[in-house]
Amino acid sequence: MAADCTEPGCVPRHVAIVMDGNGRWARQRFLPRFVGHEQGMQTLLRVLDACAGRGVRYLTVFAFSSENWKRPEEEVSGIMGLVLAGVAKYLRKLASEGVRIRVVGDRAGIAPKLRAAWDEAERSTVHNTRIELTVAFNYGGRWDIVQACRQAVADGLAPEQIDEAALAARMALAFAPDPDLFIRTGGELRVSNFLLWQTAYAEFYFSDCLWPDFGSAEVDAALAAYAQRERRFGGVRPASVAPQGA
Ligand code: FPP
Repeated sequence: MAADCTEPGCVPRHVAIVMDGNGRWARQRFLPRFVGHEQGMQTLLRVLDACAGRGVRYLTVFAFSSENWKRPEEEVSGIMGLVLAGVAKYLRKLASEGVRIRVVGDRAGIAPKLRAAWDEAERSTVHNTRIELTVAFNYGGRWDIVQACRQAVADGLAPEQIDEAALAARMALAFAPDPDLFIRTGGELRVSNFLLWQTAYAEFYFSDCLWPDFGSAEVDAALAAYAQRERRFGGVRPASVAPQGA
């Protein structure tokens, strides 16, 4: 990881977000939950733009977890339809703005039509470099660790060859540096099975703001909080390395 994103006052290279609060946002307005998810999609476009403008290189969002299948069938199919429509509506715009799109998660459980849309989104943005948007869809942190282990076995690794580097290279986000900043909106103080492996040394930022209300001012507040953090990665505070006056 580059030193520029870990030193105080710097912009995080990789931001990961649990976009929570769509349902409550809709309920507060006596609207169906689906409308909250629609607004959530608009928020994602805003936040993506704000992050790119501030120099964030990777934005990873939790759009549908392995556990979200437990939601009412109507809500699940509503989210699937929203995503399909979203790809059709916004892909060209995002591609022209230099956004590279990737999707991580268990694609086996996804309808063929949506899988094809994800494939097209990845293919048509593969050369873009302004910011990388990774959508975690049918994703779970535990699933990710299990699939990396299975891959290591399938690759023929002996037990003594399986170490952190071997698994890290097989995790779904192996192409990106670990997230520097993990944001969760909506007031809950949980990780909810997102990026368990990759957030070992991430800085956490929890906001009461419901996801549809999140915007560039909230992005700036999160980046400002990050800039105040002193990251040590298990080491000591720099001030305590050298004795006073030495
Ligand atoms: C959590 O809020 C949100 C979700 C499970 C869905 C997130 C989906 C979007 C923001 C739409 C955009 C999707 C893509 C793929 C870009 P919640 O429903 O748990 O809210 P609540 O906690 O208030 O009930």
